[in-house]
Amino acid sequence: MSGAAATGNRKLVFAVLLCTLLTAAFLYFFYFLPKANMGPEQPIAFSHRLHAGVKNIQCQFCHPFVGRSTHPGIPPVEKCLDCHNYIIARHPQILKLQHYFDTRTPMPWVKANYLPEHVLFNHQRHIRHGIACKQCHGEIKAMDRIHGRRFKMGFCVKCHREKKANLDCWLACHR
Ligand code: HEC
Ligand code: HEC
Ligand code: HEC
Ligand code: HEC
Repeated sequence: MSGAAATGNRKLVFAVLLCTLLTAAFLYFFYFLPKANMGPEQPIAFSHRLHAGVKNIQCQFCHPFVGRSTHPGIPPVEKCLDCHNYIIARHPQILKLQHYFDTRTPMPWVKANYLPEHVLFNHQRHIRHGIACKQCHGEIKAMDRIHGRRFKMGFCVKCHREKKANLDCWLACHR
């Protein structure tokens, strides 16, 4: 085989490999990512769209500490049962909920949002300043499962710059 033919072959192999990779990447982004964006699967199929959207239950009803302390809090099973002892009490998901309550097992909700560990974030300051939940969390009322996100510093800084809030982040936001 001549040298030129070998180079040609190598180019062909390379082109085929590249096509395969691109196809795989396309399939991944097209089919897999949208599902991933739906957020983690939860132990109970709890829907924000249904509760906060359709039934219009206020965010603070279930996350009462959001404007008062550092952590908004995830409602305990008792809170769900306040309603669900009366509403669709025999629904399979509610029976499951009842089981967590009866065995005094805390709900193993899967966290959807991540903040790098060294970052100090306080809901209170932001809520008091009148910043809406959706500015940071998106349209929760439209989500069955919360998409969640990994908060990056650029996101915090962009708004702090716009609102002329503290930009001295190394002092204010980092431990
Ligand atoms: C009926 C109770 C209820 C209501 C009303 C409710 N939530 Fe929740 N929320 C929960 C529960 C339970 C979880 C944990 C399970 C989950 O992530 O879906 C949660 C989780 C969250 C999380 C994600 C926490 C994380 O990082 O994993 C955010 C953000 C949130 N809620 C925001 C809101 C906002 C904004 C509203 C109002 C538009 C709202 N919630 C209304 C019960 C409620
Ligand atoms: C303020 C009352 C209220 C509270 C609190 C509440 N729910 Fe509900 N929930 C409802 C109503 C109303 C429905 C719709 C019932 C129906 O379909 O007739 C519902 C429906 C559901 C369903 C069934 C959804 C389906 O697929 O049909 C599940 C599961 C559920 N809730 C879980 C929870 C969990 C978990 C909590 C606690 C984090 C909770 N709920 C707190 C009122 C409430
Ligand atoms: C300025 C941005 C911002 C606003 C506004 C905001 N949040 Fe958050 N929220 C965050 C960040 C960042 C996290 C992740 C914090 C963490 O993991 O410690 C978070 C986490 C949460 C969690 C999960 C807490 C946990 O313990 O897992 C809930 C619930 C929540 N937010 C509810 C709300 C509700 C309800 C509102 C509106 C009343 C709101 N948030 C407004 C940025 C915001
Ligand atoms: C949508 C706008 C917005 C976003 C996004 C936002 N902030 Fe803020 N933040 C503010 C405003 C406005 C204030 C000033 C509130 C006040 O004056 O009490 C503030 C105040 C703070 C403070 C108190 C600063 C001080 O003066 O001591 C900290 C800490 C903070 N933010 C951290 C964060 C972090 C970390 C994030 C990202 C996860 C973030 N913020 C995202 C608007 C925002």
